Amino acid sequence: MISNLFKECLADVYHGEVTGETAFGNMLGSAESADQSYIIGTLFQFETEGKTILRPLLARCGLSIQEDDEARAGGKAASEQMNALPWSQRFAALHDLVKANFLPRYEELAALVSAEEDPEAARIAAFMGEHERALLELSANIVAGTPDPAAPVAALLHHPLPQPG
Ligand SMILES: [Fe+2]
Repeated sequence: MISNLFKECLADVYHGEVTGETAFGNMLGSAESADQSYIIGTLFQFETEGKTILRPLLARCGLSIQEDDEARAGGKAASEQMNALPWSQRFAALHDLVKANFLPRYEELAALVSAEEDPEAARIAAFMGEHERALLELSANIVAGTPDPAAPVAALLHHPLPQPG
């Protein structure tokens, strides 16, 4: 039996994906090279896939899959602040934002359901924690100058974008 606490957390995670998709979609225009376009495009794709992965579970839990205007507005505002920063600083800011405001809620989802209770919900909940940690890893890679910084995110995509070059 899926709890109400799980459902509330699931709805927050879905809105988080809507926020992220809007933010990275809005960041696409700021890319200054093929590599930057690939990284931002990969993040945009990651959030879109996050939404589609969650929708069947939301529907099964009786939750709306409607996208929240407030989540979109939050994503647009956050990306506008970040677009004003130089490339590496933008990802340092993203790292801190995700770690403080999104990761705890995403990781909580897996703690609110067990595989005995609902194997599919538990699988998706664990995946969303992994999803959010990959976003942190990408951000840390950019700050550190690691080659192919988007690799941890691209590895979780079902429909990855072609790498430049
Ligand atoms: Fe996400």
